[in-house]
Amino acid sequence: MNRLVPLGILALAILAFATLMLVIAPAVQIRGMTATPGLKPYTEQQMRGRAQYVSQGCVYCHSQQPRSVDQAPDAERGWGRASVASDYVNDRPHQLGTMRTGPDLFNVGARLPSRDWHLTHLYQPRAIFDWSIMPGYPYLFELKARAAPGDVVISLPSQYRPDTGVVVARPEALDLVAYLQGLDHSYPVPPTAVRDDGYSEPGEPR
Ligand code: HEC
Repeated sequence: MNRLVPLGILALAILAFATLMLVIAPAVQIRGMTATPGLKPYTEQQMRGRAQYVSQGCVYCHSQQPRSVDQAPDAERGWGRASVASDYVNDRPHQLGTMRTGPDLFNVGARLPSRDWHLTHLYQPRAIFDWSIMPGYPYLFELKARAAPGDVVISLPSQYRPDTGVVVARPEALDLVAYLQGLDHSYPVPPTAVRDDGYSEPGEPR
């Protein structure tokens, strides 16, 4: 019985320490944070596309947090500089992700700026890479006998082309691609910015 009191105190101390390190300290670190200079706010279309990204669960295979060189060779993979906390001020809910079944997408707009590339890839990833294991999202597209004025027809290799008619992007697909094209955080960050691992060293190359 009298062992319960120290045990209880120890448990509370561990809880208090964890709250301090994981809740209070990060909140103090990012208090009053504003957007990194260079970060563009989302357009309305990109906000709709972001909602698609969230609801389609792209985060289950794609991260949005390039790491620093001492953690992972993300820069060598072409995924961009290490992200900093102020890159995310417009992101609610954040889509940092933990899985990297596919590449990190934080700078995919800088890496792959073409709308048509993204539309074809979303409709059928294997139309671009025959080895791809990414699922296709054909329900974001529509099969039409012929394109109406203003329709965005996607180009497909012959084996994925419908026998008759054309594949046209629905607004959901166009919004999602506008969001992907806007994922470009390749602007420089001030040396005082708080890095994603909470570590900041003035003057350190990023
Ligand atoms: C089951 C895992 C999985 C899911 C879910 C997934 N992807 Fe992918 N994605 C991949 C893989 C694997 C690749 C690499 C092969 C390829 O390009 O198709 C990839 C590649 C990409 C690329 C090209 C990136 C580059 O640098 O080449 C983009 C853009 C992309 N995915 C967007 C999305 C979007 C948007 C969604 C949600 C609608 C999504 N992915 C859902 C696995 C996934």
